[in-house]
Amino acid sequence: TKAKMVIDKEFKISEIDPRIYGSFIEHLGRAVYGGLYEPGHATADELGFRQDVIQMVKELQVPIIRYPGGNMVSAYNWEDGVGPKEDRPRRLELAWRVIETNQVGTNEFVDWSKKVNSEVMMAVNLGTRGIDAARNLLEYCNHPGGTYWSDLRKQHGYEAPHKIKTWCLGNEMDGPWQVGMKTPTEYGRLAAETGKAMKLVDPTIELVSCGSSNSAMPTFPEWEATSLDHTYEVADFVSLHQYYGNRDNDTANFIANSLDMENFIKTVIATCDYIKAKKRSKKTMNLSFDEWNVWFHSNEADSKLEPWSIAPPQLEDVYTFEDAILVGSMLNTMLRHSDRVKIACMAQLVNVIAPIMTETGGGIWKQSIFYPYYYTSVYGRGIALNPVVSSPKYDSKDFTDVPYLDTSIVYNEEKEELVIFATNRHLENILHVDVDIRSFEGFKIVEHVVLENNDPKASNSIREEKVKPHTNGQSYTEDGLLVGILPKLSWNMIRLK
Ligand code: AHR
Repeated sequence: TKAKMVIDKEFKISEIDPRIYGSFIEHLGRAVYGGLYEPGHATADELGFRQDVIQMVKELQVPIIRYPGGNMVSAYNWEDGVGPKEDRPRRLELAWRVIETNQVGTNEFVDWSKKVNSEVMMAVNLGTRGIDAARNLLEYCNHPGGTYWSDLRKQHGYEAPHKIKTWCLGNEMDGPWQVGMKTPTEYGRLAAETGKAMKLVDPTIELVSCGSSNSAMPTFPEWEATSLDHTYEVADFVSLHQYYGNRDNDTANFIANSLDMENFIKTVIATCDYIKAKKRSKKTMNLSFDEWNVWFHSNEADSKLEPWSIAPPQLEDVYTFEDAILVGSMLNTMLRHSDRVKIACMAQLVNVIAPIMTETGGGIWKQSIFYPYYYTSVYGRGIALNPVVSSPKYDSKDFTDVPYLDTSIVYNEEKEELVIFATNRHLENILHVDVDIRSFEGFKIVEHVVLENNDPKASNSIREEKVKPHTNGQSYTEDGLLVGILPKLSWNMIRLK
């Protein structure tokens, strides 16, 4: 099977905002307790954070991490999580029906995020609470001092303000599962007024208005149109969330789901631009794809969980090789739209639908999806280029004209490096790609990393890493042409200098 593409320095999409490689930690399952925080663990530091986890998160170079939810934030009292740990209340956590001990809260998470070189993206509760709780939390975090909430922060041992820049106005407020679900008008009004008060407290912050929980919501995209009509001027981003699953075991169809993601992004852009036109606004709304991943393996196990335990295993998907293929294509899709997608958060980061898994009291391991995320984050920095692709296509249950070749191109001017991320969706054949790299004369392949496996369902565990990349890719350059050799069903990174 053969494909062609042209890559040129001049075909620029956009400078890539590094925050496109963000992630997410929710108070859910063992993400916090038994994940990043485990006092008494062999690797725990003086604050109780697992250093094996810190190390592995640092490998991913995650620039921003969303916190503390997720569904959990919609009934969360942030005040429960600050001050002396022994005074913190245990609460019924309604989103996941567990007991929250509040041993980790805002300040601890800020401490941890510094250890992993990340910024915090903080979400406020617009489910059970509103303007007051949000503006108080912001004053607690960002105001220098001399007021009730900022002085309380100092009293809690944090002299300097946290300077948290990016804030989410609630989470998935369109979802019937959400505590305090709202109509788009109810949400739009509350978010606009909350955002207004927050920007009075600190005008330097950026705000994310809630979009739909996924592209299949019956209220999509009317939710965006109606809520943005209220929040357009105060918000800087609108959020998108999307998870995919291979529930009917159809690999060809499953790995084509990035086409749905692409359509979702395009529709949200169109809706934002419609509101822009309607308002005669000069401002262009950007997108924050702040939850995305594969999520379905753990659904059944989770449905059997008894309520009201503390940090039980929840949403512990064990990812397969084919999941990693789709994750790679989801990253490609966002890079191709990096002119509007400025923030994205892989959901989530540790133990809960995560690239990194731990054993409570034990070791740590990498899931299959760790690898496309790792390489794209580490090497996908710079300018996204728009490749002109001609690829043979296939049809699947839900999609027509699925290109076998899925790709994104990044040019790093500083390092004088050209990086090609390329997936071969063909389940049986090698894909040969003739790449015209005319404006990159003299560039040679530094490495061709391949993630491949004969078994689409292969997965990793603490005992065995079956899905891991190798660097024996067969691509080569010849007379200003790059010949990409992409094994059947594979994710690839070809790096040239
Ligand atoms: O990431 C898991 C959950 O998925 C989040 O809590 C919620 O926002 C989404 O429905």
